[in-house]
Order: sequence, then structure tokens, then C-alpha cells
Amino acid sequence: MASKSTVTTLTIFIFFFIEPRLSQQISTVDSECTGRWIHIRTLPSRFNLDLLSTCNHYPLTDDLCPYLSNHGLGPKTHTRTRSWYRTDPLLLELIFHRRILEYPCLTPDPNLASAVYLPYYAGIDSLRYLYGSDVNSSADHGSDLLSFLTRDSPEIWSRRSGHDHFLVMARPAWDFSQPLTVDPPIWGTSFLERPEFFNLTALTLESRFWPWQEQAVPYPTSFHPHSLPFLESWIRRVRRSRRTSLMLFAGGGGTSSTPNIRRSIRLECTNVTETEPETSSEKIKTCDFVDCSNGICEHDPIRFMRPMLQSSFCLQPPGDTPTRKATFDGIIAGCIPVFFEDQTAKMQYGWHLPEEDFSEFSVTIAKEDVVFRGVRIADVLMSIPREEVARMRERVIEMMPRVMYRRHGASMGLMNKKDAVDIAIDGVLRKISSRV
Ligand SMILES: *[C@@H]1O[C@H](CO)[C@@H](O)[C@H](O)[C@H]1NC(C)=O
Ligand SMILES: *[C@@H]1O[C@H](CO)[C@@H](O)[C@H](O)[C@H]1NC(C)=O
Ligand SMILES: *[C@@H]1O[C@H](CO)[C@@H](O)[C@H](O)[C@H]1NC(C)=O
Repeated sequence: MASKSTVTTLTIFIFFFIEPRLSQQISTVDSECTGRWIHIRTLPSRFNLDLLSTCNHYPLTDDLCPYLSNHGLGPKTHTRTRSWYRTDPLLLELIFHRRILEYPCLTPDPNLASAVYLPYYAGIDSLRYLYGSDVNSSADHGSDLLSFLTRDSPEIWSRRSGHDHFLVMARPAWDFSQPLTVDPPIWGTSFLERPEFFNLTALTLESRFWPWQEQAVPYPTSFHPHSLPFLESWIRRVRRSRRTSLMLFAGGGGTSSTPNIRRSIRLECTNVTETEPETSSEKIKTCDFVDCSNGICEHDPIRFMRPMLQSSFCLQPPGDTPTRKATFDGIIAGCIPVFFEDQTAKMQYGWHLPEEDFSEFSVTIAKEDVVFRGVRIADVLMSIPREEVARMRERVIEMMPRVMYRRHGASMGLMNKKDAVDIAIDGVLRKISSRV
């Protein structure tokens, strides 16, 4: 049963789907576009729009409908805010689609294009295979898309053996990497395991240990400014913010008795906050702990953004999977990330977070040292000189525009700063040109 808000959302989306053809005609004809033209493949609505119309039918997720508003940014956190939204990371597929419509080098002619974007909401479509009625046929994920690509103007797909095609899959790549031969499936669909898709590029939220087709891009946070003054005033607030805790952990888990990094963090945090209150003359709390168990923080950025603004370091332990959205929430808050394994960010976001500079804006403490060798995280962080901490925070702030997703329709001033979408598109074009 479609609610009224669903219907409104869909009307907005219908406009949005007519727009690509218009904008493809009015693209800049400009030398800046040489080697950068992108063609948006027109797909039947079952690959995108129809998947949104069932937004309140998806198994094991909340009703997705409210989060479709503002072209996938979600509802605003307060009526008066201009930059803050309750964003669901899965909807990066929509956010990216909306944003690529503003890309200045779109072409209606696939023959002119260096890259072909497939506006298929693969992650949303995967929900029925991951959690729903198609769980026993998860090897089929992608067959419908493939048969479309090989039947409808097949020369577009075959021209460069799929090397020039890309799409967004807003989940960990692991969710799409079930080997085709495993029956019954253990976890995930087989989209990325289909040999026919070996040459395409998928932008995922997390890549596998040995990535093949995919490149990880930042999780969308709740911050989506639309003009430079809004970004700049936020950065001023981040710089001014009094950091009254040394470190913060916002997350869940770690309550079981088996040794793991989340448990160690929980123990260290609850221990210091209880046993060493205000011993330091400056009243710096050693650890702040925001309990996000049961998904309570998911669409509620206020719960963790304020504490992140008040903490110097944000602990980013792996959980069910190595990566976390909180890595990016923390960067937006100017909170220096502390990683416990390279899979959390260093080996993931090479396009957005330059690997060679990693130690300039983050701290890495091996999780084994904390869990098994008694290293206290607070001791490591307290040993970093104050000036060094200030320098690292400046580097984090420099990273902020690169990992944020600015709002569609942003002002020129802000468009001149490359955001996560701009950097992803540059990366896709580089990757494709290196292949063919
Ligand atoms: C999937 O297969 C298992 C094992 O054969 C079965 O128990 C389960 O009911 C099936 N699920 C669905 C949704 O068909
Ligand atoms: C992938 O590309 C290679 C050449 O780079 C080609 O030989 C192969 O057939 C392509 N795979 C598919 C499924 O098109
Ligand atoms: C808790 O704090 C006490 C005193 O500072 C310390 O001896 C103990 O090792 C700490 N326990 C944990 C789990 O960090």
C-alpha cells in the first residue's frame, strides 16, 4: 500500500527521470570534456524507479520511503537546517544518480562517451535476495540487467567488452560476491561473481580484500551543504569546537565475552570514565561512549555529531565488516580517526583518502596490541604532542570536502570544490582509460 508521501516522492522522481535527456542535450561543449564524456544509459523503470515505489515493502529494513525525499538525502534533521539530513547510506544509489545529472560532460551519444553509467539501484534490488523471498535464487541477481544490456542496443555493452560501464552498489562488495557454484547460497548475491560483469566498475561502500571490479567510496554522512558559505561556517564551527574528551566511541557491539576490539574499547571506556572522573586539571574526559546499539543512531545524526565535535579522536573499530560510516561522520566533525586495521579505510578509499598521507590525518593502533597485549588506547593518544594533534585535525578538515556529498543543485562556489561524487567520477574515468 503506497502511502501519500510515497506518491509525492514518486512524482518528484518522475520529473527527475525526464531530466537526464534534457541535460544530456545541453551539455557544455568544451575542451574540458575531452576524454571525460559520460553517457547515462536509459534503463527500464524496473531497474530504478519501480524499486522505489515498493519502498515500504523491503524485508528487514525500516520503511525506506521517508529516506527517499530530497533525492535520496532523506528528510532534513530540523525544519530550519540547510545542510543536515537523515540520510540512509543505501540511498547513495539515488544520490549519485541525481548528482551525475549535473555532470557537465554528459552526452546522449554512447559512441562519444568514455564511460557509460548504469542507473540501476543494485543495492536496493538486492534486498529481496539478501533478506526476502528470492533468498534461494540469489545467483540470479544481475541476469535481468545482463539480458537487457545484451538485447537492447547490444553494441553499447559489447563495444568495449563492458570495460567502460559503471554503476553504484551502495553496500559492501561482500554482499554481491557469493560464488555462483555455492548452493544453497551462504550469504550475498552473485552479481560481482558473474563472468559477464567482470569488466565493469562498481562503486561500493566497501571493497573485498582482493578487489576486482569494485572501488570503495565514502559512506554518505548527514551533511550535504549546498553553498560555500554553509560549508565554511561549518568548518569554522569545527575549528572552534572545544574538544572536552580525548577520545570517543560511537557504536554498538562489544558486549559479548569473547575478546575483540569492540569489547576492549568498551571496557577501557567504561573503566576510565568511572574511575578517573575529572582528575585532570583541564577536565578533559578520557573517553566518551555513545551507545548506538540496536541501530538507534542510524537516522539520528544529532546523537553522535555533537559528541564527535567535542572529542579529539574518534575510535573506528571494525564490526560485522571492516568499514564504518562513522569514519566519515568523524571526519565531518573534525575528529581524528583512530583505526585498528588497514581494511577499515587505508586499503579501501584510495581515491578519496590518499594512502600516502594516512598517518597525517589518522592514528593506527593494531587491534591485536589492544586486545591481547594490553596496550591502552588512551595512553597511545595521550602520548601524541598537542601541536601534532592540532596539525592532524587541520588535515582532517582539509579532507572534509573530499568525503562529503554536497547537495544537488549547489552553488558554483561549492561546485568548484571536488566532493565525493566528483572524485569518484574522476577515478572511474581514470580506471576506465587505463583499461582500454
Ligand atoms: C530457501 O530454502 C530453504 C532450504 O531449502 C528453505 O527452508 C526456505 O524456506 C527457502 N526460503 C524461501 C524464501 O523460499
Ligand atoms: C573482458 O575484457 C577482456 C579484454 O580486456 C575480454 O577478453 C573479455 O572477453 C571481457 N569479458 C567479457 C565478459 O566481455
Ligand atoms: C581499569 O582501570 C584500572 C585502574 O586504572 C586498571 O588497573 C585496570 O587494568 C583497568 N581495566 C581495564 C579493563 O582497562
